[in-house]
Amino acid sequence: VGVDCCGWVTRCFYQIGSATVRGSRATIRPTNPDTSIYLISALLTMPSLPIVLYPDPILRRMSDPVESFSRELKDLVDAMFETMYTEKGIGLAAPQIGRSQRLIVVDTSNAAPAPIALVNPEIVAYSGTTEYEEGCLSVPGYRAKVTRHASVSIRAQSVTGEAFQIHADGLQAICLQHEIDHLNGVLFFDHLSPLKKNMFGRWWKKHGKESSNS
Ligand code: CO
Repeated sequence: VGVDCCGWVTRCFYQIGSATVRGSRATIRPTNPDTSIYLISALLTMPSLPIVLYPDPILRRMSDPVESFSRELKDLVDAMFETMYTEKGIGLAAPQIGRSQRLIVVDTSNAAPAPIALVNPEIVAYSGTTEYEEGCLSVPGYRAKVTRHASVSIRAQSVTGEAFQIHADGLQAICLQHEIDHLNGVLFFDHLSPLKKNMFGRWWKKHGKESSNS
């Protein structure tokens, strides 16, 4: 049982997709959230940010492309990683911390940290289908099985603007699709059948409103 996508508890996943990064342009940093060096530097400079909750309208907005690969972008990415690890998430999209920008971070490894930041990500190829029980930090407490592409190729830019392509399957592919959806104002329950969407609506009336901050 995961605890939210953007908040799925990593240890629950044993089927980790074997993802390969082509061009090694992804922001893969050998930082371990459990090691003190990263934590100390993170605590000094990068506070964990509050998560925007559904039904905040920013979660329904089409995010803007990132055009400036500045120091500020790097700081934002660091803050997003910090927030994701603090919330025990495996992915986070910028709108979830109130920034309507095409920027996501993911780390689906349950063995060693494998953080990846994708700026202006775009799915360029996909194949197969897979089903997984997803959750979302912006919809705390709700989980549902969602059908997605089993594997995806994604074109993106690094925080310094270099183009790269990543091929992912397994959990990483699912997480990447979930986070890219956020950039297009799509939430995971949008993929459900009308009947299940109805169930979400009833759940939301009962449990969601009290946890919402908007
Ligand atoms: Co989410």
